[in-house]
Amino acid sequence: MHSDRHLVNIALIGFMGAGKSSVGHLVAEQLRFDYLDTDDVIQSRAGRTITEIFATDGEPAFRKMESDLVKELAGRTRTVISTGGGLPVKPENLACLKTHALVVCLWASPEKIWERVRHQTHRPLLHDSDPQKKIRDLLAVREPFYKQADVLVNTDIRSVREVAQQVVHQYRLESSDRR
Ligand code: S3P
Repeated sequence: MHSDRHLVNIALIGFMGAGKSSVGHLVAEQLRFDYLDTDDVIQSRAGRTITEIFATDGEPAFRKMESDLVKELAGRTRTVISTGGGLPVKPENLACLKTHALVVCLWASPEKIWERVRHQTHRPLLHDSDPQKKIRDLLAVREPFYKQADVLVNTDIRSVREVAQQVVHQYRLESSDRR
């Protein structure tokens, strides 16, 4: 199984507020991997925030920046890649990540997501008159894509540390399987 894959990285996918950055930093520390966040790279290259990019260039332009970056990431090794919540919705993005990374989805219920993001303001997709409905609707559309991950970890019932431990454990299992 997966004999054509060379799992030298870990990609974290999942909805906004699923804990990708906090978990990703811990996993990187434990494995002594680099940590990279696709939103951070896009923002620093553009010299603008995600909100500004959405406002001036529009969401399709942002999605194009994400896809271009995903292609570049195929050259990385020993990196924990934390991805923007909408990135796996393009099948080619997920397919590309899977060639070099163990893809782990951090899953969270709409209620937990709301609890975690309600006081944050940096996500343009949640600048909505009914953000809770927006979360439910977007999550329903994205669920089939998130569930194509190699590993699914439910974050509702685990601390950041426990989730990170789970990701490290899965990576060790999967990468040694393929040695
Ligand atoms: C988005 C999630 C954000 C960011 C952008 C769009 C999405 O990243 O990429 O605001 O479509 O779900 P996080 O998942 O890191 O918040």
